Amino acid sequence: MSDIVQAARLLEQGGLVAFPTETVYGLGADAENAQAVAKIYQAKGRPADHPVIVHLAQASDPGYWVTSLPSIAQNLIDAFWPGPLTLIMPRAAHIPDAVSGGQNTVGLRCPSHPIAQALLKEFKAGKGGVAAPSANKFGQISPTTAAHVRAEFCLPDGSIEPLLEMILDGGQSDVGIESTILDLSRLDYLGPVLLRPGHISAEQLAPFLGQLPHAPDAAAPRASGTLAAHYAPRTPLVLIEGDQLLATKAALRQVGKTAAVLSHTVLVHGDEVHCLHLPANSAAYAHGLYSALRQLDQLQSDIILVEMPPQSHAWHGVNDRLKRAAHDSVGKLAALLLN
Ligand code: TXA
Ligand code: MG
Repeated sequence: MSDIVQAARLLEQGGLVAFPTETVYGLGADAENAQAVAKIYQAKGRPADHPVIVHLAQASDPGYWVTSLPSIAQNLIDAFWPGPLTLIMPRAAHIPDAVSGGQNTVGLRCPSHPIAQALLKEFKAGKGGVAAPSANKFGQISPTTAAHVRAEFCLPDGSIEPLLEMILDGGQSDVGIESTILDLSRLDYLGPVLLRPGHISAEQLAPFLGQLPHAPDAAAPRASGTLAAHYAPRTPLVLIEGDQLLATKAALRQVGKTAAVLSHTVLVHGDEVHCLHLPANSAAYAHGLYSALRQLDQLQSDIILVEMPPQSHAWHGVNDRLKRAAHDSVGKLAALLLN
């Protein structure tokens, strides 16, 4: 039996399988099996009122999952699926509450990674849906390799969390940050809302919407990826303008503190282990971002200094993730420099 067939059978039996997508690795369960979905929350340590995205095979019918498929959704599906775009729509009555954390909507996505597609095609003969959040512990950095998934679910004795029955290895995820999430559930009175920016930008969506999507409002559906603090390494992380990066690193060194650095224009010489450089191109930067953050986190420095990326449209997704990763670190740099 091939790994993909085995993984599909495990999912059909109610098990959890981690699998690669083009964005990040997912922790999958049968979306129509409430007990299987409950295991996702248990394994991740995630609150049960957070909805998960349902992943579909390319040939499957998204209409099965929703009360009705607006024509805008169909046009977006034709243009961007398979690919890193999740659409939130009103949930069909027969879809279990569990996948949507009790909300009356459902998030649908059709990933383009060939292993994800092969798995979705094999699972329930391509007619099912695989509920899958990113395959990391709640609040941690999303995994972009199979090794990251193993590290997330590794128990103190070195074994893998038993709820996770299999990890499919599909190499390093291409996109590197989570899918763009567009809320189409309140089109009639609010219009489209961009809940999470990603590789597919608001500007790319606009021609299909007849407008730019709105920013999330107070009544927007709960999304853990939209919590102020999320995707965070354990080491405090701060964003620093490029022209202040070297001076800040030197000032920290003077008070006996160590800084790990992630830059994309500034070249940092010296202790190379503590300094990673990513390309100054938003797609290539996103591709390497989470791996770099994991690597820098492992150094257990006092702080991670990240050179502030450009604020242009193309960098929206990257800036969103960095802002959340930095959220809990407010004041940390000043405190380190003071003592
Ligand atoms: O790229 C991705 O989207 C990855 C891969 C595995 O597909 N998945 C992912 O899942 O990032 P997760 O659970 O880590 O983030 C999905 C976000 C969460 O913030 C969740 O709250 C939100 O999508 N979400 C899912 N269903 C929703 C719904 N019905 N309404 C509002 N937000 C929803
Ligand atoms: Mg996540």
